[in-house]
Amino acid sequence: MTVQIWREYTIAPDGTHHVHRGRPAYTSRFHEALKFHPPGLAPVSDASGAYHVTPDGLPAYPERYLRAFGFYEDRAAVHSDAGWLHILPDGSRLYTQTYAWCGNFQGGRCSVRQFGGSYLHIDQDGAPAYQERYRYAGDFRDGAAVAQRDDGQHTHIDAQGSLIHGIWFDDLDVFHKGYARACDSAGWLHVNMRGQPIYETRFKSVEPFYNGQARVEGFDGSLSIINESGATLLTLRPPRSSPLDTLSSDMVGLWRTQTIRAAVELGVFEILPARSDTVESRTGLAPSMGARLMRALQELDLARLDDDSVYHTTERGILLARAHPFSLADAALMWGKEHYSAWSGIVESLRSGESSFHKMSGQNIFDWIAGRPGELETFQSAFSTYAKHDYRALPEKLDFGVHSAILDAGGGRGDLVFTLLRAFPALRGVVMDRAEVVESLKPPRALAARCQFVAGDLFAEWPASADAVILARVLHDWPDHDALRILERARDAIDERGKLYLVEMTLDESSGSGGLLDMNMLVMTGGAERTERQFAQMLEAAGFRMQKTLPTGFVSSIIVASPA
Ligand SMILES: C[S@@+](CC[C@H](N)C(=O)[O-])C[C@H]1O[C@@H](n2cnc3c(N)ncnc32)[C@H](O)[C@@H]1O
Repeated sequence: MTVQIWREYTIAPDGTHHVHRGRPAYTSRFHEALKFHPPGLAPVSDASGAYHVTPDGLPAYPERYLRAFGFYEDRAAVHSDAGWLHILPDGSRLYTQTYAWCGNFQGGRCSVRQFGGSYLHIDQDGAPAYQERYRYAGDFRDGAAVAQRDDGQHTHIDAQGSLIHGIWFDDLDVFHKGYARACDSAGWLHVNMRGQPIYETRFKSVEPFYNGQARVEGFDGSLSIINESGATLLTLRPPRSSPLDTLSSDMVGLWRTQTIRAAVELGVFEILPARSDTVESRTGLAPSMGARLMRALQELDLARLDDDSVYHTTERGILLARAHPFSLADAALMWGKEHYSAWSGIVESLRSGESSFHKMSGQNIFDWIAGRPGELETFQSAFSTYAKHDYRALPEKLDFGVHSAILDAGGGRGDLVFTLLRAFPALRGVVMDRAEVVESLKPPRALAARCQFVAGDLFAEWPASADAVILARVLHDWPDHDALRILERARDAIDERGKLYLVEMTLDESSGSGGLLDMNMLVMTGGAERTERQFAQMLEAAGFRMQKTLPTGFVSSIIVASPA
């Protein structure tokens, strides 16, 4: 009868001990007592530290830890001075090393984080279950776990670490009764064990299926119950925003663009935290305009107000401060000024197929900027931020170490080349751009011996050659005939056994994704975003053969081509 009596224990309301049928189960008292788990041990803590106790409230072993957690599959995670590890019921260590964090065993595997920051699963002996390391790895359930790679994409792996379906999602959950919650660029959905969507619709959020039905929230704020075909069975809450509301909001996108631009131009994010009257006086605004501007920034979730009437920058707003390593301050000015004026000519652009910026200013954007040092600085700084952010994961996508030298044509301030040279220590790099862009640029000191900036024209003979040429977000600036001329110059500059890498967004014809950026290219430069098929045709016309396309996880894809 005393066997597994602990299964009937509950925790006392003050949390200091366990209770059995209304009476204390033992005389000891702790700072904190947690639930008993098989084989009949509970984590507790007192002045001596954290450890496990038997159903008599007595220590199961002499060691003490900073924290102790429940036993799962006869193994418990503990946090010691040296790090996290698992112990067995007799208190002995399951393995010798320690981790930055340990989870609990589920399905014979346990997720652990190494001190370097990467996650993996260990088996019941404490040995790594596979070679791969992940940005994050979750618990196993029914033989599958979620693993996230460094570009932020998630998939399902099995207990040996093999990919179950090989499909990657922005976010993912484990399987519940054969379906998993998954998130792609369009929203949340349910997928089957093959990683395939079980219906077309996407939602703002979804719950797991429960006896064939799931509760979901639509982007319009509605709450519904759906079946496994995605059909709505019941509406629990009507839509919060109607199509008229969402359309009206899209139509006043200019309010957001210009309020953000004004706040950056006035230097508001350099002044916060501050009260609105301080913002008003320091930026030279008319009476009460500080309060009105700050209220608008609050609505945009760029500033928040505390109880003392002081405005602080939010997590989003901090990206508009000039000191942030990924500051979008110059991007805010760029979108709010030249781009903004040029977009007013979009109808003319659509009628003529040509850039309204060119029509208005009489020059292409690059020639126009060349004569305006302020705008050149804004433009190059904006693209430098996007490059630093969007190209971070590129070295993990492709082994540029097989090349001896890369030439980044139209490479701006060189951020992409710096990223690659840091990742591949034997690689040399040349950044080519217009003279006014590169004339005062120098590589970081650590890369100086392997990197140089050269002035060159994309349309004339290039002043350098290499076994790898990169054109990142360059072709989309140009209409087809100019893009083809650039590819022909690239063909001349590249070794016979070299490779060409295009870093470009590829248009998705099924979803329309990329369509607005395509409008932007039309208006600003007369250029275009293109589909993979269009890139393949253009590459072939310039003497290349397209080999493959890889997603970078951030806006653009990498198209790899070799001389035909
Ligand atoms: C959209 S930016 C892309 C910059 C960089 N590759 C990136 O991905 O962030 C286009 C670049 O092409 C450069 N460019 C434009 N016309 C050029 C020309 N005729 N010769 C050389 N570079 C040019 C611009 O100065 C600018 O740096």
